[in-house]
Amino acid sequence: MNDREKLASLGQISAGNAHEVKNPLTSVKGFLQLLKESNPHPYLDTIESELKKALDTLENLLHVSKPDLHEEPTVPIYLSNELYSILDLFQEKRYNVELEMDIRDSKKRIWGKRNLFLKALFNLIKNAFEAIQEKGKIRIEHFYHNGFIYIKVCDTGIGIPQDKLKLLGTPFFTSKSEGTGLGLTQVYTTIHEHGGNISVQSTIGKGTSFHLQLPAYSET
Ligand SMILES: Nc1ncnc2c1ncn2[C@@H]1O[C@H](COP(=O)(O)OP(=O)(O)O)[C@@H](O)[C@H]1O
Ligand SMILES: [Mg+2]
Repeated sequence: MNDREKLASLGQISAGNAHEVKNPLTSVKGFLQLLKESNPHPYLDTIESELKKALDTLENLLHVSKPDLHEEPTVPIYLSNELYSILDLFQEKRYNVELEMDIRDSKKRIWGKRNLFLKALFNLIKNAFEAIQEKGKIRIEHFYHNGFIYIKVCDTGIGIPQDKLKLLGTPFFTSKSEGTGLGLTQVYTTIHEHGGNISVQSTIGKGTSFHLQLPAYSET
């Protein structure tokens, strides 16, 4: 078994465990709701938000191996708008990172699960910020060409070693001490689930760019 296969089967096992743990926690959440109504207590809000974090983590693990189970309606999505709103979430990291936006064809849409895309774009942009250690630049492009929407997220960060490129997207592959190695898995699964493609170019010490290609949605 190569590293990729090992990590992939680890992903399957984890998703199985996630499922087993999620069920009882979901019922705890239900009873917590009832308790809040009958006996309000300030601690209950903390319990609830911590429980939500745990359930979100389990959701991520589940999505690793069973992307189809993610129930969400498919809708038209303006990815260019979503890019702007996601970048707002990184306000406080912006002082040492120069941001360059090249957003074209913003009237073009894709068709898909909006929350999955929000998360995927968030995960990509988060990695770009994390790759920049002191000062650097992030460039984000969006354009339409021949039936496809293209998105590029490029950073001038630390880069990825050539031999690690093939591990990207495999669950639990991380080089960060606090990393989960699930961010890119979510990105790859979401893009593939929507009939898209993703490719990466990286040079150590120079930076990394992720290129997404997604089928555009046409009304006719
Ligand atoms: N923009 C980037 N620049 C450099 N390395 C990256 C970038 N994006 C991803 N990586 C590498 O891929 C690994 C996996 O990313 P990810 O799945 O998001 O997990 P995490 O961010 O929790 O480590 C990272 O730990 C890092 O080594
Ligand atoms: Mg990440």
